[in-house]
Amino acid sequence: MTLNLTKKIIQKHLVSGKLIPGEEIEIKIDQTLTQDATGTMAYLQFESIGLDKVQTDLSVSYVDHNTIQMGFRNPDDHQYLRTVAAKYGLIFSPPGTGICHQLHLENFAKPGSTLIGSDSHTPTAGGIGALAMGAGGLSVALAMAGEPYTITMPKIVRVYLTGKLKGFASAKDIILFLLKKFTVKGGVGKIFEYTGPGLKSLSVPERATITNMGAELGLTTSIFPSDENTRRFLKAMGREDDFIELGPDPNAEYDEEVEIDLSSIEPLAATPHMPDKVKPIRELAGLKVDQVAIGSCTNSSYLDLKSVALILKNKKINPETDLLIAPGSKQVLKMLLDENLLWPILNAGGRLLECACGPCIGMGGSPPSKGISVRTFNRNFEGRSGTQDAKIYLTSPITAAFAALEGKFTDPCTWEEKINFKEISLPLKTPSIKHLFIFPPENQAEVRIRRGPNIVPLKSFSPLPENLELPVLIKVGDNITTDHILPAGPQITALRSNIPAISEYIYSRVDKEFVQRAKQHKQGIIIGGENYGQGSSREHAALAPRYLGVRVVLAKSFARIHRANLINFGILPLIFVDPKDYDKIELEQILSLNLKQLSCGQKMCIQIKDFCITVTNDLTTKELNIIKEGGLLNFVRNKRK
Ligand code: F3S
Repeated sequence: MTLNLTKKIIQKHLVSGKLIPGEEIEIKIDQTLTQDATGTMAYLQFESIGLDKVQTDLSVSYVDHNTIQMGFRNPDDHQYLRTVAAKYGLIFSPPGTGICHQLHLENFAKPGSTLIGSDSHTPTAGGIGALAMGAGGLSVALAMAGEPYTITMPKIVRVYLTGKLKGFASAKDIILFLLKKFTVKGGVGKIFEYTGPGLKSLSVPERATITNMGAELGLTTSIFPSDENTRRFLKAMGREDDFIELGPDPNAEYDEEVEIDLSSIEPLAATPHMPDKVKPIRELAGLKVDQVAIGSCTNSSYLDLKSVALILKNKKINPETDLLIAPGSKQVLKMLLDENLLWPILNAGGRLLECACGPCIGMGGSPPSKGISVRTFNRNFEGRSGTQDAKIYLTSPITAAFAALEGKFTDPCTWEEKINFKEISLPLKTPSIKHLFIFPPENQAEVRIRRGPNIVPLKSFSPLPENLELPVLIKVGDNITTDHILPAGPQITALRSNIPAISEYIYSRVDKEFVQRAKQHKQGIIIGGENYGQGSSREHAALAPRYLGVRVVLAKSFARIHRANLINFGILPLIFVDPKDYDKIELEQILSLNLKQLSCGQKMCIQIKDFCITVTNDLTTKELNIIKEGGLLNFVRNKRK
């Protein structure tokens, strides 16, 4: 039987199920990663399972989101993460070492391995040929406990690349091109597997930019084969031993196919406020730019920043534009230093930020009011930058560097062709930063976990009753993101290990009375539109509503990771059979649900006053049982009893 690359990896890790799209499968997970904003909760959950150490081949706890240490909260969390890692056998990456995905790609990701991470951009490691998926923190906790990871078998799409990028187009423009073509919903239930002669011209960091932002397409993940370019990257990272050649069988079958001619792609930008609202840069020419931010897990590699340094060399940025640069890791920073590439950026007027997520998560570097910020990041949702009325454009580092120089978007035809980007390639050897990670000590059993006041143990949730009378706590529109449900920003994310405190911010920027209403009714239902819960994997956007008494979300459709998070915390995701019924429901109406009728994929009626609407679900048997038992933690604990 001829297999594509994705199926080969899944087959090798399959615990149960069949490789048929739509079927539920369980796979063994080799590696896990967490970042601090989701990690504290994942480790509280792991602890509640009661094991002595993690069961994976490798698990890494990164601190890259809330690195600013003002007040006790973030430092308390960092201390908890540091001691929990030592106690349970994880590698700890201290704040300032770098961004989780960049660091994982450089140091730990392996071709052919399975990886889940409590961050939606975990698919970045697909650039090296790993099957890497974003998951809720709870799924990561369970993978660390040796439980298989459950997914619905996605459709595998062959993305056949031909040609070669031309002029100033770069890897970021490839993924922006795909976002324009397929939209933020176009990848739901699918994996993009890249093949074709166009692969040859793409290095691992460029591939990782594409797989990183595949998350914005709604994909389960994206993957590139492990080939000579992969070997070259691993060799440069000092870990050629991790290389294996891996690709699809000749004539492998795919569920769908698409062909992209790389030479047809031009410099692009995602315009406010969605990553798929993509326009050519030439159409934006003349638009004034107040701020440029270069970095994030999408575009903070050595190759990205070297191209910026070459553009800025011996020049000055526009006096009315701010330029922020955050290298993705200390390795990238060291390489820039060693090759004298940092000074050209600083000398042009750029500001150097810590090797961390920083402005991407609104952690400093917010644009001015009504400002236009050009960012090399992956998301431009309203308010995510920390400035509610700012307008964010997502571009490549090359486009961003030209915008910083000119203080406005300019037509790429006017960019001087004298910069020879062909010169930019990864050095044959890079400096190792392995010594900066903290590896678990020998005396793990003696390590004392340190818990500051911000670490609040989890409350356990009750099973699903057979009848529910639920008031509508909020009714929202299409494409509600997890940022809408629970905004980011230092004040809020600092409370991620304190559920009672963080729940006060649920829907705080959409409806200021939501929390009060939920507390008054003690339980309720949320009504959503299409693609409910898209965006970051933030499981607190499900956990905190559950804490406030949300038992059901009824929507037109759900984003994959948020849907999984809802189920994990015992919230029932129901779908309108007729989307027009959405219009019939009003705030604070009482919806009566007879859950004895609830079964997988079956329609049921919800009574509202004197009429009834028909809803359905796409739950598997296991998911339904998880919800009935009050969430995944209850389910696993009951199973292990
Ligand atoms: Fe960090 Fe932004 Fe990526 S928050 S992990 S740089 S999407």
